[in-house]
Amino acid sequence: MNVLLTCVGLRVDVVQAFRDALARRGGGTVIGTDSSLIAPALPFCDIAVKAPAATDPAYGEHLLATAREYGCSMVLPCSEWDLVQLAELAPALAEIGCQAFLPPAEVTRRCVDKLEMARYLVAQGQASPRTFDPNELPDDLRYPLLVKMREGRGSEGIFRCVDRRELDFFLEYTTLPSMVQEVCHGTEFSIDVLCDLDGRCLDAIPRSMIQSKGGEQIKGTTIDDPALVEVGRQVAETLGLRGPGTVQCFREAPDRHEITDVNPRIGGAFPLPLAAGGDYPFRMLALAAGEPVEPRLGEYTRGVTLSRFYHQVLFNTDNVASLPQLNLAEPSDA
Ligand SMILES: Nc1ncnc2c1ncn2[C@@H]1O[C@H](COP(=O)(O)OP(=O)(O)O)[C@@H](O)[C@H]1O
Ligand SMILES: [Mg+2]
Repeated sequence: MNVLLTCVGLRVDVVQAFRDALARRGGGTVIGTDSSLIAPALPFCDIAVKAPAATDPAYGEHLLATAREYGCSMVLPCSEWDLVQLAELAPALAEIGCQAFLPPAEVTRRCVDKLEMARYLVAQGQASPRTFDPNELPDDLRYPLLVKMREGRGSEGIFRCVDRRELDFFLEYTTLPSMVQEVCHGTEFSIDVLCDLDGRCLDAIPRSMIQSKGGEQIKGTTIDDPALVEVGRQVAETLGLRGPGTVQCFREAPDRHEITDVNPRIGGAFPLPLAAGGDYPFRMLALAAGEPVEPRLGEYTRGVTLSRFYHQVLFNTDNVASLPQLNLAEPSDA
């Protein structure tokens, strides 16, 4: 079985987990793409492919050609960059026997647009902080508020406002489509979910968010919290996620969890659910092979703590014989 991982970037953890899962299934190849040939995860892939930028109109064709060339059975995005492009490409990928592990395009777009997501969740009876279009602000706004980029990622484009003066300033200041959201005051949690290809939630592993830096969680712990497992399952199934996702929420009362962010992709703190027994890559391979995969909600290991540090890979890009080199795919003519 061959696996295509896109926009691998820093995701050495994901590449290694798939190589391990493939080995346990009897072998297979990880083909990783990135627009930069010095992306740290590329040297860990069996085959490295230089892709166009996700915003390049040729991105989809290139990906399709790569999946075809290597006979990939599945494709998984490793970052936010190409979620919508990949979701739109999923039907064409399916035609060549390559299963995309992300939600249908409509659902993916909804998750990427935080205003649409908040509206949808509330309409479906889930909790979310009160969120408004800047042109439709009500009179009873409660400060502090956040001006938040609708398509933000990595904690970018979020401004805290304590009064109307600051709100007006940041709405004027920000150049990208934004929304206004009330600040949550409870404790923030994240739940790493896995759904099957029919949208049934197979797993939901909650973690505390002890510390984040630049939108990436650098310290966190898997916790024993059945209410959060249920929040993760409900939100994943309500939205219609497929494959892995992360659901972020604030506990505003013991039975009220306000959802602030849903990422329809493998979480930034993925080593945690992996070490807690989630084994999502192995289960995705089974799903891609059409094998039955049973839910295992609540069976994870509690108290697994992640504490991140910097690391690096050194490789040969010229003539340094002592260092490993990318196994770089020849550019295809597609
Ligand atoms: N309504 C909110 N109340 C309090 N904090 C928030 C709220 N929305 C976002 N944050 C903080 O900002 C961080 C980034 O926001 P998030 O919605 O997760 O966007 P993204 O991760 O896509 O950048 C969150 O992890 C959280 O700590
Ligand atoms: Mg987030």
